[in-house]
Amino acid sequence: MATLDLSAIRSRIGELRVTSDGLIALIGTCISVAALTYLLSTIQGAVTVHNKRHGSRPPKLPYAIPLLGHLPEFLKNTMEFLARATAKYGPSTPVRIQLLNRRMSLLKGAESITALFRNSRDLSSEHWLVQVLVNAFGVEVADAPFYLADDTGIANQPDPRSKMTNPEYRIFHLVFKSVHSGLSGASLEEMESQLVRNLSSQINEADIQSDSWTTIFDLYGSLIRTIAFRAAVVSLCGPKVFECIPTFDADFWTFDSALPDLFKEMPRWLAPASYAARDKMKEHLQKWQSFAHEHYDVSQGKLDKREWEEFFGSRLMRTRHEFFQKMPLSKETIAADDLGLVWAATANTVPAIGWMLLEVLQRPDLLRRVREEIAPYISLDPSDPSRMIVDIPNLCSRPLLQSLYAEVLRLRSGTVINRVPTSSDFHIGGWHFKKDEQIIISTYDTARDQYVWNQGTVDDPHPVNEFWPDRFILYPDNPNSGPVLPTIAQQQPKKMQHPPISEPTFSLDGTAGSWIPYGGGTRMCPGRHFAKKEMIVTLAMFLTEFDIELLIDADCEIKPDLKYFMFGVMHPQGKIPARIRRRRFN
Ligand code: HEM
Ligand SMILES: *[C@@H]1O[C@H](CO)[C@@H](O)[C@H](O)[C@H]1NC(C)=O
Repeated sequence: MATLDLSAIRSRIGELRVTSDGLIALIGTCISVAALTYLLSTIQGAVTVHNKRHGSRPPKLPYAIPLLGHLPEFLKNTMEFLARATAKYGPSTPVRIQLLNRRMSLLKGAESITALFRNSRDLSSEHWLVQVLVNAFGVEVADAPFYLADDTGIANQPDPRSKMTNPEYRIFHLVFKSVHSGLSGASLEEMESQLVRNLSSQINEADIQSDSWTTIFDLYGSLIRTIAFRAAVVSLCGPKVFECIPTFDADFWTFDSALPDLFKEMPRWLAPASYAARDKMKEHLQKWQSFAHEHYDVSQGKLDKREWEEFFGSRLMRTRHEFFQKMPLSKETIAADDLGLVWAATANTVPAIGWMLLEVLQRPDLLRRVREEIAPYISLDPSDPSRMIVDIPNLCSRPLLQSLYAEVLRLRSGTVINRVPTSSDFHIGGWHFKKDEQIIISTYDTARDQYVWNQGTVDDPHPVNEFWPDRFILYPDNPNSGPVLPTIAQQQPKKMQHPPISEPTFSLDGTAGSWIPYGGGTRMCPGRHFAKKEMIVTLAMFLTEFDIELLIDADCEIKPDLKYFMFGVMHPQGKIPARIRRRRFN
């Protein structure tokens, strides 16, 4: 795969014997321009903060290279760059960033972020979404104008300023409505039971014995990821995908690892393998779609009372293909749009499920507590002992399981959320944001805000960078428990404060604007209810059926793969060997 090897370039430059005085002078000039630019932008930023009035624009983050702005730093290490931008000018002052010709503001502080989400109506992400669909997922450039022509918004009533009249072409509204209704109520419940059904059959069929251990070289990459992905796709798209395309699973993860290149808009000649991985996934989805259309008439889909059937899977998928059929879009584009949905539905959840298991398996005490919490809610079907029966609602209301779920998402997701003020300039916290300029939020950094998060006590510290399974549990007799600092908890409006509790209780109180793995406002992730169930149920089913021992050194910490930073929940890095056998339960 073609990548830019910066260290190689640097050492080449070092090998060159620079003899020309002219070149030295040029380099000297460049260095002083950079120093001057940095000095000037630092002063400018400091002056902006010092002279802040209502309506000032956010200060600029200092940078050294004119024109490029923060681009070199951003590309070198995005995580470090965002951490620097977050620290600069304090925890709630937004900063302006410039990446070449793109200007944006990084919004910080729970209050400002909540305010942004509350004002969703004046913001839009549609244009940005089209950009992502084209650049990352491969919607055909020729079809982009169709998407961009829809300026009617996502609400039921088209935006009164819009001149678009065909209700069948309201793609953003139709997609929005279909994902929200398809991922709630009866449709959601059916997806959940399909998930359990499929997980149960895969777990039952896995080639793992009860009387001897099986060694696997990569617990996440070759077992958890495969099973979790297949079950998720079957609940969304039905089982035919895997029948039509036996390599769907492996090819999807190859595509997923190519996404960072595609998002960064690397040209095809620089990243041919990444584009090839995407082309392959588009062909796969087209193949499945034509097969499904041959066997199921989506135009009659509304008459079908079933929430799920085997060709298109969920009602969500069926509804999409019903409205796609009435739109003048190419087959390639429809496949690319579905690739985006399949990615949204799996690329965060599956690594998050991996972390749920890995965090528990690394802590024997926690494993014991978790199994105790799970046990009452899972049993074998008396009429078919190869099937597990899961009491999903009660299982997913347990405090420790919910706290684990929230802590995994707090610690492992690194998403950049994006909004654009489209109708007019925008004000938050007294700062002025220009119309059409992106406002971004880094979920990785809000999840580590030391002015918000509970970090334990002197005797029992729990730094923000550490996994703390009990972080989101309020204990009745412990005033130091719960996710946020006591000062933050007390600031909560009275009606939001918990009534006195008599038992350990899961709580997100005080984390609004800080715990935001799903974004917020009207564009908040519609898959969050399903995702939560998936994460807890899959963990519970694995731990019920299997004994798993990680074969890694006790002091070796499993780290996230920073390659995925910015693109949601990061995968665990490297291969994680383990041994596994079936447990006897019931
Ligand atoms: C742990 C798992 C998940 C995480 C962390 C996650 C995170 C996110 C985030 C950050 C957004 C953008 C929200 C914003 O801009 O405010 C989003 C959007 C979305 N997610 Fe999820 N998601 C997860 C699981 C799912 C699942 C399981 C599905 C579907 C089955 C799904 C479907 C979607 C869709 C369709 C959107 C676009 C919504 C829109 O643009 O209006 N997500 N998700
Ligand atoms: C579960 O999904 C796999 C595809 O990965 C499929 O082969 C299997 O038949 C499914 N099982 C059930 C019970 O849905």
